[in-house]
Amino acid sequence: MANALLIRGGRIIDPGQEIDKTGSLLIKEGKIAWLGDGTPPDADYDVLDADGLIVCPGFIDLHCHLRQPGDEEKETIATGTRAAAKGGFTTVCCMPNTNPPLDNESMISYVKTVAANESPIRVLPIGCVTLGRKGEELVDMSELEMAGAIAYSDDGAPVSSPEVMRRALEYSRDFHRPIIDHCENLFLTQGGQINEGVVSLELGLRGIPATAEELFIQRDLDLARETGGHIHIAHVSTEGSVELIRAAKEEGVPVTAEVSPHHLTLTEEAVLKFNTYAKVNPPLRTERDTLALLRALNDGVIDIVATDHAPHTASDKDCEFTQAAFGISGFETALGNLAGLILNSELSLNTLVAALTIGPARILGYEKLGTLEVGAPADVTIFDLHREWVVDAAQFVSRGKNTPLDGQTLKGKVMVTLYLGQPVYMDESLKIEARDGI
Ligand code: DOR
Repeated sequence: MANALLIRGGRIIDPGQEIDKTGSLLIKEGKIAWLGDGTPPDADYDVLDADGLIVCPGFIDLHCHLRQPGDEEKETIATGTRAAAKGGFTTVCCMPNTNPPLDNESMISYVKTVAANESPIRVLPIGCVTLGRKGEELVDMSELEMAGAIAYSDDGAPVSSPEVMRRALEYSRDFHRPIIDHCENLFLTQGGQINEGVVSLELGLRGIPATAEELFIQRDLDLARETGGHIHIAHVSTEGSVELIRAAKEEGVPVTAEVSPHHLTLTEEAVLKFNTYAKVNPPLRTERDTLALLRALNDGVIDIVATDHAPHTASDKDCEFTQAAFGISGFETALGNLAGLILNSELSLNTLVAALTIGPARILGYEKLGTLEVGAPADVTIFDLHREWVVDAAQFVSRGKNTPLDGQTLKGKVMVTLYLGQPVYMDESLKIEARDGI
């Protein structure tokens, strides 16, 4: 084996550097060493032929659930991160709604230690906003900060008290960290199962109204405006939410926002026939909402795509609809779920790559991630936008086989994921070879 790797002849897309061209990438000692369209300066390298493939920075997921500690029957750090690598992710930020939750220094250290030993990729833990995610008492942010928390969230639950949220934003502003809020007015969602609308009426299920999300977002935007703290709105799902965020951004409020692949491609109709695999919180909405989300991603009102990978066991899902857990296992279908939008010209390829790379890196304030700049860590994802494949949830690396896409034929497949220059996932049709003639 040579001590360097040349990824040869792919379409290199690096929105952070405004690069979109055919070329080659040289990786050496875990870093990007050269990017160009001729022959690299070094003589000693192996070659990975990327002809016809897209080469971009490794995907960064700002929102996922790895379930460890406490819910290892759903997922572990080892299985979740392998699934993420298969989905093209080289960095994942894990939510703190574990058991116990990540609300103190030792829990953050635990996740970091397990990840250091068992994860093939980078794991960045998100700390709770409040102790036990109870919404009452703020965590000790400076303690969590020292331990390595990269953002704060009570995800799975909102921070209902405006007083607590206001203080959280004040503290996090000083640490330059985002508060990621799961925006849900619980008074409006009690017992809610799916979007409030025609499908909830037809199935006789209690609905979750759009206003439950929108009222909450409005409050968060007001608090961010007042405090100057960075609010990041998790899993935006409605047209009204988009309009609130758009107006706040125009005003200069420090807000960023994410959308999940399933909210871009699926509607409430996916739960017809009481399909628990499409039960997710916030719920799948209407076509009008998906179109608004798509427009918002294309025009930058929504900054990033985040999977909200939420693995659950078969028994969490194969039960009465009202008893079923909320959540979709999303790492392994993220690209395939979205590539169709690109192929139909509904989403720009550069926008999607930015939303999965430089976008989340900027929200985190990590200049060296999400880019193929010379000297940056060699986190690289190579994918085939046109490659067709059939989703077979039974074959997921994730323990969570819960996807409403099972059995569907998708286009867009991750072929190789490199983390610090090392392959952590490679499709069997590709191989790394010694340089011709050496
Ligand atoms: O559907 C969801 N599942 N939404 C959330 O907010 C939490 C997540 C989970 O942890 O399962």
